[in-house]
Amino acid sequence: MKKLYIHPLPVRIWHWTNASGFVVLILTGLQIRYLGLIEVIPFKLAVNLHNWIGFVLIGNFFLWLLFYVLSDKIKVYHPELSPTKHFRDSFRQLKYYGYGIFKGDPNPHHVSAYHKFNAMQSMSYQIIMMLVVPIQFYTGLLLWDVKRFAGAVAFFGGVRVVDTVHVLIFIFFVGFIFVHVYLATLGHTRTAHFKAMFTGYEEVEDEAVGQS
Ligand code: HEM
Repeated sequence: MKKLYIHPLPVRIWHWTNASGFVVLILTGLQIRYLGLIEVIPFKLAVNLHNWIGFVLIGNFFLWLLFYVLSDKIKVYHPELSPTKHFRDSFRQLKYYGYGIFKGDPNPHHVSAYHKFNAMQSMSYQIIMMLVVPIQFYTGLLLWDVKRFAGAVAFFGGVRVVDTVHVLIFIFFVGFIFVHVYLATLGHTRTAHFKAMFTGYEEVEDEAVGQS
């Protein structure tokens, strides 16, 4: 086994702040949505927590973005420009998760500092971080003060439309967290990827280093 430095410190700080913030946003969001049905903490506190954590995560998102844009690590987010290669690699990865893993096949993707995501992660993280997360933060900001942002709210079709988008993305993230955490348990041990996201170092088989 070799240790490779995969997750730089700013990414780890961003990730765990973001993950814990998302969990609290989901729980307080549920209580705000199901007013009268769920009341774990006072409603006003749920709203204030939801708003404050929302702002912290917006700031945190810009730290993540700045780190990647200003360092050469942005390469890990570069899309695969050959559709044939992208779909072939995604299919290979899907086949591994859906079938090969149960027969003990090796993971077809081999991690390196500039190639840490497999084809499926690469596409989904790009869409989530560049599109879904920003839309969720923006709709949250509009809903935080609908009077102040009345122009933008009206432009997007009114509070109902903005709120529906916010809730649909909320549902997406609830599902995403389950799938994401399940996939994160599929390292060479159940906890290997979690440890790597804390220490920065991923353990990889010697013969797997540098392949793709
Ligand atoms: C709540 C529990 C969460 C846990 C336990 C968790 C766990 C992990 C682990 C172990 C990794 C490293 C392995 C991998 O790349 O898959 C990772 C990476 C990542 N996670 Fe999470 N995660 C959580 C929530 C989230 C949320 C809510 C988001 C996005 C909104 C997210 C977005 C990401 C991204 C984009 C990466 C790759 C980061 C990078 O290297 O740039 N995670 N997560």
